[in-house]
Amino acid sequence: MTAGSMLALTAAVALWQQNATLNDVCTAAYVKSALPSSSTYPGVVVNPASVLANPVTNANVSGENFFPDATFDYCNVTFAYTHTGRNDTVNVRYWLPAPASFKNRYLSTGGGGYAINSGYGDLPGGIIYGATAGATDAGFGNFSTNLDAVNLIANNTVDWERIHMFGYEAIHELSVLGKAFTKSFFAMNTTKLYSYYQGCSEGGRDGWSQVQRFADEWDGAITGAPAMRFAFQQTQHLYSNIVEQTLNYYPPPCELEMITNLTIAACDPMDGKTDGVVSRSDLCKLNFNLNSTVGQAYYCAATSASSGMGSGSPFGASAATPAQNGTITAQGVAVAQTIIDGLKDLSGKQVYLSYQPGAVSFDDAKTAFNNVSNKWELSVNSFGAEFIARFINDQELETLPNLNNVTYDTLKGWIYQGWQKYADTLHTTWPDLTAFQAAGGKVLHFHGESDNSIPTASSVHYHESVRNVMYPNMSFNDSSAAMSDWYQLYLVPGAAHCAANTNQPNGPFPQTNLAVMIDWVEKGIKPTTLNATVLQGSNKGQNEQICAWPLRPMWSNNGTTMNCEYDQASINTWLYTFDAFKMPVY
Ligand SMILES: *[C@@H]1O[C@H](CO)[C@@H](O)[C@H](O)[C@H]1NC(C)=O
Ligand SMILES: *[C@@H]1O[C@H](CO)[C@@H](O)[C@H](O)[C@H]1NC(C)=O
Ligand SMILES: *[C@@H]1O[C@H](CO)[C@@H](O)[C@H](O)[C@H]1NC(C)=O
Ligand SMILES: *[C@@H]1O[C@H](CO)[C@@H](O)[C@H](O)[C@H]1NC(C)=O
Ligand SMILES: *[C@@H]1O[C@H](CO)[C@@H](O)[C@H](O)[C@H]1NC(C)=O
Ligand SMILES: *[C@@H]1O[C@H](CO)[C@@H](O)[C@H](O)[C@H]1NC(C)=O
Ligand SMILES: *[C@@H]1O[C@H](CO)[C@@H](O)[C@H](O)[C@H]1NC(C)=O
Ligand SMILES: *[C@@H]1O[C@H](CO)[C@@H](O)[C@H](O)[C@H]1NC(C)=O
Ligand SMILES: *[C@@H]1O[C@H](CO)[C@@H](O)[C@H](O)[C@H]1NC(C)=O
Ligand SMILES: *[C@@H]1O[C@H](CO)[C@@H](O)[C@H](O)[C@H]1NC(C)=O
Ligand SMILES: *[C@@H]1O[C@H](CO)[C@@H](O)[C@H](O)[C@H]1NC(C)=O
Ligand SMILES: *[C@@H]1O[C@H](CO)[C@@H](O)[C@H](O)[C@H]1NC(C)=O
Repeated sequence: MTAGSMLALTAAVALWQQNATLNDVCTAAYVKSALPSSSTYPGVVVNPASVLANPVTNANVSGENFFPDATFDYCNVTFAYTHTGRNDTVNVRYWLPAPASFKNRYLSTGGGGYAINSGYGDLPGGIIYGATAGATDAGFGNFSTNLDAVNLIANNTVDWERIHMFGYEAIHELSVLGKAFTKSFFAMNTTKLYSYYQGCSEGGRDGWSQVQRFADEWDGAITGAPAMRFAFQQTQHLYSNIVEQTLNYYPPPCELEMITNLTIAACDPMDGKTDGVVSRSDLCKLNFNLNSTVGQAYYCAATSASSGMGSGSPFGASAATPAQNGTITAQGVAVAQTIIDGLKDLSGKQVYLSYQPGAVSFDDAKTAFNNVSNKWELSVNSFGAEFIARFINDQELETLPNLNNVTYDTLKGWIYQGWQKYADTLHTTWPDLTAFQAAGGKVLHFHGESDNSIPTASSVHYHESVRNVMYPNMSFNDSSAAMSDWYQLYLVPGAAHCAANTNQPNGPFPQTNLAVMIDWVEKGIKPTTLNATVLQGSNKGQNEQICAWPLRPMWSNNGTTMNCEYDQASINTWLYTFDAFKMPVY
């Protein structure tokens, strides 16, 4: 312990009282006495005048994906710090459990999309397990300002400091400060503070950004559906558009929706259990021919304009659409199949991977109805286009006006450019985790198998990169087993992007990941399957176990007994070689 942190600790310890209540310690004065000292993180200076603290009692959460329903009390703390010489202001917020509920734990949380935090949404996930839970604004002005509002200082001028903070620095500072603050706040003296992370999507990438760099920051990290191969991931959102443009067919959304529904119906029983859930999208890939859907009828009623799909949804407002009544065409299937096959360049070499068959829907392929021409037309995917406009072209634009002359090779070029440009910040696939493993760290990595925003196979690809880099001389089975001692990957049957899936409502979701991780870290109970719960549908409340990659679920006895089986042909469907690049893609 450094002299400075000893000093900070001493100040709080002096004010700490046995049997202190939430009201005793949840005051600005007490928080100021427990703030991290200037030596906690050289170059980071906390501003005591910024401290806000208030106790909150009987807060509650229900219906969440990442933690069970709960009622709890906490101390709501916000403070700010600056980087010496930069004159910036970074705000952090921490929720601390009531002293009697504190269990010597700390949890960092991350964001989603271009947000570095999830508002207050992820913090209960720490509090209910007796952990202080922290979130940061990364210095973007306030907690609701996202990177894509501040990544440019002006047209053509990148704000590299913001990119750097988002890339990995802000979550690191949040964790170092949060751990020191927690120890001091609870006068922990020499007691061990267990440190964790939980996040999904950008939050999954935030988690990996630390595991890859800071070996002893956390004892356990839970990383869901990470947006980690950043330029690949963002650019691939435009791939479906370019498939439509290249094949010159713009399917009515209902046609693709029907292809998805027929895929789910056909592939659901392949796992030995007919429950509306495609638990084996790999068997679906091997055994279901999308061509068999050609000629089937589809119908979707007319819709009126809507302002969006609710808060937290990545999908924006939608215009009115007419009734769609038709039959699935060969061109529609060709679009769907080409999307599922993943991006290849014009010489046929694989550039990237894509969504699994049966995934929620073909959102990236969504067309727009033109009521002048009476036709479905290209609708530029704004996730993908914003990345090109703001992060590749450095223009303060939210999208591209059109995709004229964009080909598969153009996408490949953007990917390569973005990969190089953000190699040390947003691109988050460093595969050598030796230091993290040596420090005793554990990772639970999960990904919905029907994710329609970040392809499930992108997580498999990273897991396999780590395995190959860290265990170069071991067999597939031996290295997979060795790695599962500290890094495990779970594909969640039927699950959507960081959420349960209304199209496959009987699928399980791993709602208690932090409890599983705590048991692994604090009690040495290594998971062999991942605990999960059906969160909706007719089986709601049922417990299910999820198989650890590379094993895959298969039910017998009319869907009543699950076995995690080894199936080489299925495993092979998840593995890609990106031969369009001479550089290895981790
Ligand atoms: C949860 O909190 C809200 C707002 O304070 C309150 O209206 C509601 O009754 C609470 N629910 C439960 C189950 O305690
Ligand atoms: C937590 O603190 C922030 C900053 O003072 C405040 O805006 C927010 O309303 C507080 N939340 C609750 C539930 O008291
Ligand atoms: C630091 O920033 C504040 C506003 O946040 C400004 O008032 C002050 O002049 C700045 N100081 C320097 C040295 O730039
Ligand atoms: C956050 O900052 C943005 C940009 O400065 C501003 O438009 C927004 O109103 C602020 N939000 C809050 C909650 O303060
Ligand atoms: C830490 O040490 C101080 C001083 O010895 C003591 O008063 C306090 O109770 C200790 N805290 C804990 C959590 O044991
Ligand atoms: C599907 O049909 C197309 C012709 O429409 C054909 O080119 C393609 O090979 C077929 N795919 C499979 C998997 O049978
Ligand atoms: C769809 O079109 C077919 C053939 O034109 C017609 O028989 C059917 O009634 C229509 N369905 C609806 C719901 O409009
Ligand atoms: C930035 O460039 C875009 C075109 O790339 C232009 O539409 C916009 O007006 C420019 N913004 C400013 C402030 O010049
Ligand atoms: C697209 O390519 C055509 C030739 O293939 C060319 O005439 C046209 O100018 C290009 N358009 C843009 C916007 O670059
Ligand atoms: C697809 O299935 C969902 C139910 O999961 C249903 O709501 C939707 O209407 C179906 N779509 C079509 C085109 O039949
Ligand atoms: C596993 O999930 C069930 C609900 O499906 C829950 O009751 C149980 O506590 C969970 N186990 C762990 C270790 O979290
Ligand atoms: C198999 O399971 C289904 C669905 O749970 C059930 O309807 C059916 O009766 C079962 N069949 C047998 C032979 O038990």
